[in-house]
Amino acid sequence: MKVPADVLAARLRRGLADRLAEGGGLRTHAWRLAIEQVPREVFLGDRIYQHVGYAAAARWQALTPGDVGEDEWLSMVYENTSWVTQLNGTDEHAGTGAIQGEPSSSSTLPGLVVSMLEHLEVHDDARVLEIGTGTGYSTALLCHRLGDGRVTSIEVDSGIAARAQTALAAAGYRPALIVGDGLAGHAARSPYDRIIATCSVRTIPSAWLAQAAPEARIITTLSGWLFGSGLIALDVVRPDYATGRFLPGAISFMPARAHIAPPLNPVLPPQEGHKRNAVVGPEIFTDWMGRFLAQLAAPYVQYLSLMPDGGDWPQYVLRDSASGAYAWLIHRGSTWMTLQGGPTRLWDRIEQTFLAWQDAGSPPQQEFTIEVTPTAQTIRLDAPTGQLSWTLPSVGDAFRRPGT
Ligand SMILES: C[S@@+](CC[C@H](N)C(=O)[O-])C[C@H]1O[C@@H](n2cnc3c(N)ncnc32)[C@H](O)[C@@H]1O
Repeated sequence: MKVPADVLAARLRRGLADRLAEGGGLRTHAWRLAIEQVPREVFLGDRIYQHVGYAAAARWQALTPGDVGEDEWLSMVYENTSWVTQLNGTDEHAGTGAIQGEPSSSSTLPGLVVSMLEHLEVHDDARVLEIGTGTGYSTALLCHRLGDGRVTSIEVDSGIAARAQTALAAAGYRPALIVGDGLAGHAARSPYDRIIATCSVRTIPSAWLAQAAPEARIITTLSGWLFGSGLIALDVVRPDYATGRFLPGAISFMPARAHIAPPLNPVLPPQEGHKRNAVVGPEIFTDWMGRFLAQLAAPYVQYLSLMPDGGDWPQYVLRDSASGAYAWLIHRGSTWMTLQGGPTRLWDRIEQTFLAWQDAGSPPQQEFTIEVTPTAQTIRLDAPTGQLSWTLPSVGDAFRRPGT
């Protein structure tokens, strides 16, 4: 006999809560109740996008409940999976074929959402600001835990925000939903005891600190143009001072729209400059800590890999959009050669950071700390040889890209 959809959904929600608890992300009863009672299917709507193909052939394929059947759709909804719900900042995709592009909104992996909510360490009266409403699912979990009146959520895309509002109302939640740039926070409903971002930032927006209540906590992902990423917990000590550390896990989120890397200059720099054999090669770009460290060393740098005609190895070109410096990495014989030009030697900087981290014993990301003041945002690592530190892009850049 067919199980009614609402019974099946409730069963699947309990199963999801069990799995999240077993995985260690779900730790408290109040958040378990939220997972068991908020219907994720309402927030996913009637279409998700699945990744198909690889590399240059990678595409996205729309999937609807009609394609898989109602029961299978519900099982997918309650998988511990991120589902992409929008591509390329639009919902208008011509035809029904595979679509090329980048996700611009998604329903985050429930296990990650709940672990971030646990890290938020809310008390029953906490007023929460969420940046990145998306489908509204995480907003609904917050409303379930704290009550509608304590939740403010900001979404930059008005179409996504409208759909989230409809879904939230259908599930019985009415938080304050704001359409706008979450990097500016929402002063009118401040102060906030807790701030959580489900999109990533290159630097902590000063508005978040300014709108934080005493002893507020911020949970966000820091990311950047070299695809380094990490989840942080920041405790706001004063409106102009916060301190925190990286949390365990290889966690990344789509960047806040104003923090997306600018398009790369299509005109390549000359293949000339200071020449030497590289000690560290481009393999660091395929490594979680390698990308993170390279980005700390060179926060305005982006890279491109190119396959030369008839070549066996790709060539890498790095460019710093703030200074104009560049570096090439070219495979020669059994090693990588670097050619560096412009006002600073980019590959020297990246290598120095990477080698200093290795000398410190290659510690994991959770040993890095962060300090935010009005003049600088600094990441630090205590190494046996002394403290290593790097400065994040300056706070004003939260709202402005170099060269704009
Ligand atoms: C990963 S999704 C959010 C997932 C959501 N919390 C959920 O559970 O469905 C990230 C969202 O952040 C939004 N976003 C990106 N930049 C933003 C910004 N500057 N301010 C507010 N929202 C932003 C995107 O449009 C997207 O909907």
